[in-house]
Amino acid sequence: MTLANAPASVSPIRLSDYRRPAWTVDTVELDVDLEIDTTEITSRLSLRRDPAQSLPLRLDGENLELLAISLDGRPLDAADYRYENSVLDVVGAHDGSMLETRVRVRPSANTALEGLYLSGPRETGFLLTQCEAEGFRHITFFPDRPDVLARYTVTLRAEQARFPVLLAGGNPDGAGELADGRHWARFVDPYPKPSYLFALVAGRLESIRRDYVTADGRKVELVMWSEANVIDRCHYALDALERSMRWDERAYGRNYDLDVFHVVATHDFNMGAMENKGLNVFNAKYLLADPDSSTDEEYRAVEAVVAHEYFHNWTGNRVTCRDWFQLSLKEGLTVFREQQFSADMNSAPLKRIEDVSLLRRTQFPEDAGPLAHPVRPAEYREINNFYTATVYEKGSELVRMLAGHLGQDGFRRGTDLYFDRHDGHAATIEDFLAALGDANHIDLKPYLAWYAQSGTPRLHARGEYDAARREYTLTLSQLTRATPGQPEKLPLPIPVKLALFDQHGRMLPLHLDGQTVETEKVVVVDKASQRFVLRDVPSHPVPSLLRGFSAPVVLECDYTPTELALLLAHDADGFNRWEAGQQLAALAFDSLHGAGHSAACKAWCDALAASFENPAIDDALLADLLTPPGEIEFADRQSEVDPAKIHAQRQELQRRLAQRLGANALLDRYNMLSSGSEVQLDAASQAKRRLKRRVLELLALVDTDQAHALAARQYETAAGMTDRLAALGLLVRDRAPQAAAVLADFRRRYADNPLALDKWFAEQAKVPGEPALANVMQLESDPAFTLKNPNRARSLLGNFASANPSGFHRADGLGYRFFAEQLAELDALNPQIAARLATAFNGWQRLEPVRREAAHTTLQGLAGREGLSRNLSEIIGNVLQ
Ligand code: ARG
Ligand code: ZN
Repeated sequence: MTLANAPASVSPIRLSDYRRPAWTVDTVELDVDLEIDTTEITSRLSLRRDPAQSLPLRLDGENLELLAISLDGRPLDAADYRYENSVLDVVGAHDGSMLETRVRVRPSANTALEGLYLSGPRETGFLLTQCEAEGFRHITFFPDRPDVLARYTVTLRAEQARFPVLLAGGNPDGAGELADGRHWARFVDPYPKPSYLFALVAGRLESIRRDYVTADGRKVELVMWSEANVIDRCHYALDALERSMRWDERAYGRNYDLDVFHVVATHDFNMGAMENKGLNVFNAKYLLADPDSSTDEEYRAVEAVVAHEYFHNWTGNRVTCRDWFQLSLKEGLTVFREQQFSADMNSAPLKRIEDVSLLRRTQFPEDAGPLAHPVRPAEYREINNFYTATVYEKGSELVRMLAGHLGQDGFRRGTDLYFDRHDGHAATIEDFLAALGDANHIDLKPYLAWYAQSGTPRLHARGEYDAARREYTLTLSQLTRATPGQPEKLPLPIPVKLALFDQHGRMLPLHLDGQTVETEKVVVVDKASQRFVLRDVPSHPVPSLLRGFSAPVVLECDYTPTELALLLAHDADGFNRWEAGQQLAALAFDSLHGAGHSAACKAWCDALAASFENPAIDDALLADLLTPPGEIEFADRQSEVDPAKIHAQRQELQRRLAQRLGANALLDRYNMLSSGSEVQLDAASQAKRRLKRRVLELLALVDTDQAHALAARQYETAAGMTDRLAALGLLVRDRAPQAAAVLADFRRRYADNPLALDKWFAEQAKVPGEPALANVMQLESDPAFTLKNPNRARSLLGNFASANPSGFHRADGLGYRFFAEQLAELDALNPQIAARLATAFNGWQRLEPVRREAAHTTLQGLAGREGLSRNLSEIIGNVLQ
């Protein structure tokens, strides 16, 4: 028996070192004998050798117990192979050789949830795999890299009573009974795929099904699988899947390509979901939905993630990535496609607001701190640490800029050519830009700089009006600050969508470069500084810049409060209207500590009071307008961060708004918005609930007792989770007298619903300020808490450290110490989750000195511990630099 582990410290892997694989695999035959504790996998690989290279055969294999190995039918002597440091070297292989191995793995002992593992209790749970990025090497020996595409035939065998359902990717190709109560099932995937898209699932699962016919006439059976007690909550996801499939046919001309499409829900999953070919696996959080246990946000997230994984079938699976540095090739593009889909299904401006908020809350801080990396990183130690907001969300923004540049038809021509050229192959970002460009006879290479350069560009805008010449000169300059490893920054092509408004809020026609155009135009800033002269401008205009958030930059423009109020009242671009409000709120925030415009707070409140009375504004947009930027966004604008102060100041800002709106008006509006006894999911009903929640939160700032009483009643009478959780959240965050009772009730009500219980932990982890830590420490020893379940760990520890700045960043540093202890414990179980949670320390260098010192000491202590995983040590090492 041989077991080989990788050494913990490794040198980085670099993009510049990429080499084609010396050995590839044409076909893979896997025979898997499944059992909870030990599973045996026999693999037959038909090998192809690159004639241009003369390297011996080397395969990846992690934690495998090697039982047998033979080459071309001949068992190998100990001298002919070596399994050490997670690689298997074999001598004597040649082009066309067949390597057969048999290995044993231990699913029930796998707490890292990578490779083959058990979901749920050993008596009732089921087995499943997770292979992206490098999980396949935990199942068998293989050149485990995305540019090795092979055809898979998978035969599963298991005890029929314990594992009635056997699934693998591809089309079903027979099943039957075996002796002694066992059975088998075979799956053949006709499409060559990289190993990270392999999957199998085995256990007691229920299903719901639907027949689907693709636009090009293929009959497909869509099947959702889950454990029996939640199968009724899969219907919404099945509907969403059908909508996604239709949408991709229409928007991108992409049809599904197998006879079956299976989706499986698990409560034990490291990420959101996984696009395995023909067998998607979902974190239950992103698949199950019903009104009693899911909020409106969660319904939207289910729809979005179902679409995201489905869209990967073309952007990721049919065309995959050459290497993991190209991750954004599939992720950025697929996030963008999902955003387009969600915008089409729901409200486009609201979706844009949601996405930009997410970018600012997660990606901007990443780009501004020690973890900054380009959308296409140049090096990594642990690839799982690079499934980041930068690769996903900023990556999507880059695709959006490209799509904007080409226009709808041009972008479609470009993606058509991309799919034609690269179908069945592993591609690069360069390939993608070349296909988009070639289809449109445009050189898009300048955009490559966006993929290579980290940091958020600052776009400074200054306008000057010359009344005598009726000219408005807009000077746009860009600057990107240095990031780790990138001291020098180049100017990037920044598309700026702009419009001008007169003092009455009317849009002005734009005369630029002699041509008359519409009222909106895109200019591209690709130098450090550029001037754009607009002619025939009748009066001093107010510019609306970066409309729809046309580039992922920070806009710096010295607007007066009056100008922002004008845009907030009149901008027809829903996103920019909201954005004007956000900028005005930021000025108001500054004015509270005596910086900037003293009139800003009043201007913000007045402008929102007008919006509050404006029946033309949609309820959901109004709810967003009434919400100032979050604490993380405010912190991002400061050079010395005191999270407690930011929290207090943001509360004060909201209190002033609530006062301006008035308790009576808030109460009246709340009563008007009260909803019926059944949950409707249409946009208007969701918008009502969103506004109702916001109004109640504001009311609590001016008439606390009344708001709490209303919240307690809302909790009791709520028809669904959105209203119920909104009420509970308010009472818990405010530490209202009613909080204990609703928490106890919620706990009883949802005792058997882990996703709902996650919310119970999450809401308590988000209690601001001093009391948070004691809460979290107590919850950590609650019998329902476990570090072994990623959703549960994220609910409590993730929310505490990443979504509760004033609670986590205590001046006494106890928040850091408690969290670091938890990380070390978690790291021994699940390094991916530990590393992900540890990114909460990002930004510690910009904390005020007392907290900075405390965080530093804790981080150094953590870094000095023995036996940290590669995942966690890379994050801690980078955060400390
Ligand atoms: N490809 C999956 C998705 O975006 C996510 C996989 C994340 N994998 C990981 N090891 N972090 O849909
Ligand atoms: Zn994805």
